[in-house]
Amino acid sequence: MFSRIVLVVLFASLASSALALDGDPAAGKIIFQRICQNCHSPEIGINKVGPSLWNVVGRQPAAVPDYAYSDSMKNNKATWSAAALDAYIADPRGDVHGVKMYFKGLADGKERADVVAYLSTLK
Ligand code: HEC
Repeated sequence: MFSRIVLVVLFASLASSALALDGDPAAGKIIFQRICQNCHSPEIGINKVGPSLWNVVGRQPAAVPDYAYSDSMKNNKATWSAAALDAYIADPRGDVHGVKMYFKGLADGKERADVVAYLSTLK
């Protein structure tokens, strides 16, 4: 009985960490094109309502030249890690630095993992 509970707990934590790390870039690309691309280009040098998201994973926030970021985004010093992106996309306006992004966010953790996996391919 006890070992079965341990196994269930172990499996649950493995499954949730897999969700955070192993998104599906192909699925993420479709979500990006459906939702994010209204405001963001995946290509370098193209800013729309939002800045280009080319090479965003691992870079500093507000690093795209010629884009007028909000002051809160300029003051955000947390590198765009997968975890930081996940938290931002989950609730862009609840987050302190999300004031300018008029987007309610992606509630589904699997969809966020997929989008972040796709963003990781933009290099
Ligand atoms: C309605 C327009 C809109 C949509 C939809 C949108 N964004 Fe944004 N996004 C913005 C704006 C505007 C900013 C600039 C925010 C600021 O300066 O505070 C931004 C900023 C960002 C940044 C920070 C970029 C940097 O250079 O630091 C990331 C990352 C981001 N968005 C990801 C996404 C993702 C992923 C999606 C889709 C799930 C998405 N956004 C959907 C408008 C949008």
